[in-house]
Amino acid sequence: MNDSGPRIILGVTGGIAAYKSLELVRRLRERGAQVQVVMTRGARTFVSPVTFQAVSARRVRDDLWDEAAEAAMGHIELARWADLVLVAPATAHCVGSLAAGLAGDLLTTLCMATEAPVILVPAMNRVMWANPALQENRALLEERGIRFLGPVEGDQACGEEGVGRMMESIDIVNAVFEEPVRLASQSLKGLTAIITAGPTREPIDPVRYITNRSSGKMGFALAAAAQAAGAKVVLVSGPVSVATPPGVERIDVETAEEMYASVHERVEDADLFIACAAVSDYRPESEASEKLKRTGATLNLELIRSPDTLASVAKLQDGPFTVGFAAETQNVAENARKKLVRKGLDMIAANKVGRDCGFDQETNSLMVFWGDGDVELEQASKSVVAERLIQLIAGRYHAVNSEQHSTQVG
Ligand code: PMT
Repeated sequence: MNDSGPRIILGVTGGIAAYKSLELVRRLRERGAQVQVVMTRGARTFVSPVTFQAVSARRVRDDLWDEAAEAAMGHIELARWADLVLVAPATAHCVGSLAAGLAGDLLTTLCMATEAPVILVPAMNRVMWANPALQENRALLEERGIRFLGPVEGDQACGEEGVGRMMESIDIVNAVFEEPVRLASQSLKGLTAIITAGPTREPIDPVRYITNRSSGKMGFALAAAAQAAGAKVVLVSGPVSVATPPGVERIDVETAEEMYASVHERVEDADLFIACAAVSDYRPESEASEKLKRTGATLNLELIRSPDTLASVAKLQDGPFTVGFAAETQNVAENARKKLVRKGLDMIAANKVGRDCGFDQETNSLMVFWGDGDVELEQASKSVVAERLIQLIAGRYHAVNSEQHSTQVG
């Protein structure tokens, strides 16, 4: 079982939308979270605890007075364990109880006893949602720091249409992981990550070189996010003028060959390798010892292939979980999927690049692919995109490792 991802208590209360929370559990776990489901009595009339147990891989908690469960982890311990308490669906009764400070069952007790953030995802009939009592309770809870996600507009189970539907699972997960500072705290704990960043410089003569537009911003943002997620980070960087994130070990290199050598020197200790550097595929066959003179009308440079650090790390036996980048000007998804397979990677993050996107910009968007899945990380600052990508990588890393572990045990 993954025991280092962010720890989420998912409270499920008694609304028809309770069945949607099964998908929510799956999506949270996909992102690397450990999910402890806590159900109210009402929720149990809609979905069996056994079903939630199957999707969460944890025994569901549903009773404040369950002696056996309390002996294993008491409700106060559970409240301390959580990095986040997420209640989805949250009924009008649940919102009202919390506003009134009533701790009548395990879930409301946990919400009151935790120091972790609490997020409520209401789902109810549109008239109930608009009811002044409910709206006053919502405003009061928001004032106290409890966050609401939704409800959204659409068809309702009662046959009406309006604002009251529970937000879709994917949108809940994206919103939850937008607050990664706290959630990211554990997801890479104890792991070592090597990250490459920036461009390389391939010398032509003592004063000229071949390079590209990479600023290093994306790779440095990844290093900061991985470090914030608890990893020990080694950042192998080409020449850039970005500040090194605190706590990150930085190794400066210039050429593709130096990058290859530095990565391979440290890769044995790595659990993760993320290749964000824009490495020159070719380099001048030899570096002229003196500055080249202007002679003829044209000058031919003979270029030879540089070593591919990413492909070589992916080929290592017992090597790290390997994530590549694909910088594409066209057919982004198709070319990235091909690179994923050709280089034998665990995951690839593809971005469209050009004069005004990808390279040397403040923002980015990514399409991320792995064996049987893909996720789009929409346009945001490079640090937000990096935090989302690190959560995704942590989720896949833990999923792959727990699969391998259970295969070995089985
Ligand atoms: O640095 P910024 O200005 O913030 O810009 C970020 C970025 C656009 C450079 C970044 O998001 C990105 O796309 N990085 C990968 C750039 C690249 O070289 O992509 P590629 O499709 O050419 O290479 C595929 C993968 O192989 C990359 O992971 C690359 O690091 C790796 N590679 C390539 C060649 C080589 N010789 N060795 C490698 O390891």
